[in-house]
Amino acid sequence: MRLLLLGSGGREHALAWKIAQSPTLKKLFIAPGNPGTATVGENVNLSITDFETVKKWSLENKIDMVVVGPEDPLVKGIYDAFQNDNKTKHIAVIGPSKDAAQLEGSKEFAKAFMQRHNIPTAKYKSVTKDNIEEGLSFLHSLEAPYVLKADGLCAGKGVLIIDTLEEAEKELNEMLSGRFGDASQTVVIEEFLSGIECSVFVLSDGTNYKILPVAKDYKRIGEGDTGLNTGGMGSITPVPFADETYMEKVRERIIEPTVKGLKKDNLIYKGFIFIGLIKVNNEPYVIEYNVRMGDPETESVVLRIKSDLLDLLKGVANENLKTKEIELDKRSAACVVMVSGGYPEEFQKGFAIKGLEKAANYPDSFIFHAGTKTKEENIVTNGGRVLAISSYGDNKEQALANSYKLAQELNFEGKYYREDLGFDL
Ligand code: AMP
Ligand code: GLY
Repeated sequence: MRLLLLGSGGREHALAWKIAQSPTLKKLFIAPGNPGTATVGENVNLSITDFETVKKWSLENKIDMVVVGPEDPLVKGIYDAFQNDNKTKHIAVIGPSKDAAQLEGSKEFAKAFMQRHNIPTAKYKSVTKDNIEEGLSFLHSLEAPYVLKADGLCAGKGVLIIDTLEEAEKELNEMLSGRFGDASQTVVIEEFLSGIECSVFVLSDGTNYKILPVAKDYKRIGEGDTGLNTGGMGSITPVPFADETYMEKVRERIIEPTVKGLKKDNLIYKGFIFIGLIKVNNEPYVIEYNVRMGDPETESVVLRIKSDLLDLLKGVANENLKTKEIELDKRSAACVVMVSGGYPEEFQKGFAIKGLEKAANYPDSFIFHAGTKTKEENIVTNGGRVLAISSYGDNKEQALANSYKLAQELNFEGKYYREDLGFDL
């Protein structure tokens, strides 16, 4: 199997690391990749939303399977671009079709899907400039705080949680007037749900599915979940509150109807489904769908998949996932993300990263590169999230302690990481 993985972050390094362990892998390419992925495969400089170029390159390089890391190419229709072309049809693309990717690409689409298939989620109203009055009266029917979501992709910035009705009305008007460009021409107003969140990952071949390890991520920059939202400061798996009873409810009320609903609606979906859940009075509700793996959840989740991931992906491509077994590691895994000083606001790049070789002394830990690049002899910082340090442990405390030990040995100017991960579990 010759495989092309698309993306360049910590999630992609973790996926590449795992896929590279498969005995049936002949060659792994990552586009565009990073210095971390270059240690487990070969990086290729391709623009991953330029589908004609990706297709041409894949044909020339005899690619059998394309695994898509981030949402952008999926929402733009990379699955269809390969499938609708006789020359590239034989290449399996792991990910949903363009229509199905609307589960992440449009909040309104996702809410309507859940409503249609009786999947528990917050009450909502979808509003445009034409029915703003209905939106305002829906807002008045809710209690504070108020949740406003831009319908389209906003790189994680399109959700506002607002304390007062007055401000919510003002924000609704601003969003509809283009605060997030086209993405907020439609706004979804939601009832606020209070509870604890976790990320559930499902791999589906369109009919059958496997549930991957459940993880919790930490989005805020500051300890105690304070400060600005980031791309993700760390993750832990398994999640103690997502116990067997809870997960059975999730399977029955959410995962089953999601996979069946996609099929019923003729939405072709052969890939990862990421379900963001919130637990309210012990009951699961869907906060959002994403059509890819989570970052930084993947960096801990892959550690706990004992099975050959490539074999599972072949099961997706060949629609025989049912015949595959998924074996999970009983241990815990945790990932600590090291970021650039100043992130998620302004920060500087280009600082040399010291101590990467120390990983060799930590057999239970792995360094996944997120925002790094090679500069002359050095690996330097090249993004807000720089490194994801993932470790095994007999429990979450030990897994975290292992990651923190290694994180201490790694240095770059302005390095920062949260030292309180898992505080809420
Ligand atoms: P989303 O992009 O839809 O995942 O929203 C981002 C974050 O906003 C979620 O991870 C939640 O923490 C929060 N959030 C979204 N919707 C709600 C809701 N209906 N009630 C409470 N919190 C929410
Ligand atoms: N960790 C959340 C995400 O990947 O969207």
